[in-house]
Amino acid sequence: MAKTYTIAIDGPAGAGKSTIARALAKELGYYYVDTGAIYRTVAYFLDLLGISPKDVDGVERYLDELTIQIEYDETGKQHMLMNGMDVTDDIRTPDISQKASLVSAHAMVRHMLLDMQRAVAKKHNVIMDGRDIGTVVLPKATVKIFLTASAEVRAKRRMDEFAAKGQKVAFEQVLKDIQQRDHQDSTRPIAPLKQAKDAVLLDTSELDIPGVIAAMKKIIGEKIPL
Ligand code: DC
Repeated sequence: MAKTYTIAIDGPAGAGKSTIARALAKELGYYYVDTGAIYRTVAYFLDLLGISPKDVDGVERYLDELTIQIEYDETGKQHMLMNGMDVTDDIRTPDISQKASLVSAHAMVRHMLLDMQRAVAKKHNVIMDGRDIGTVVLPKATVKIFLTASAEVRAKRRMDEFAAKGQKVAFEQVLKDIQQRDHQDSTRPIAPLKQAKDAVLLDTSELDIPGVIAAMKKIIGEKIPL
């Protein structure tokens, strides 16, 4: 089998991981795997059932009834199927962001999703983004990048994303949500958000999107012929 290249991008919420990873994947002809969307699908499923993400027994009881599939449309966009239903857009709300963060702390949930993530990387060249890709999911990734930015910059970017969708949200609220998720994601006992020892740190606070892409290509180009 031909050698596959894997690029792991980790970092806190709103650091620009998915925007950048999607653009790079398109340019390089790689699969893009947004792993946060998988956790969001779990959170959305449990939410529909009225199960709190903090209810350990409830979460464990209903996980068996959930089948998740990742599909890609002709534009390369990742779609999330929850028991066959496309929930790609439904999982993008502030409420589901928080619930995904809480549900992702469960050992059983992380275990269930691990193989699914690794299976894609076995077959294809991938750019995968998340919180634990370089540390847990793909510890042997060809390139690891830890993408970050100040909480204020990340909140501003999130606000602009909401504005682009016609949704008005208060800056203070977005900042608070981001800080709360940062705390939850980086202090959980299993697979917390943290920079892998061999990851390159890239702070994007002062960079625009083309600037981040250029910096990423420089880092990637040191390990993978572009
Ligand atoms: O990347 P995102 O904001 O869509 O992720 C939503 C939540 O899912 C995030 O707050 C924590 C969790 N997550 C995780 O625990 N591990 C990953 N690899 C990706 C996301």
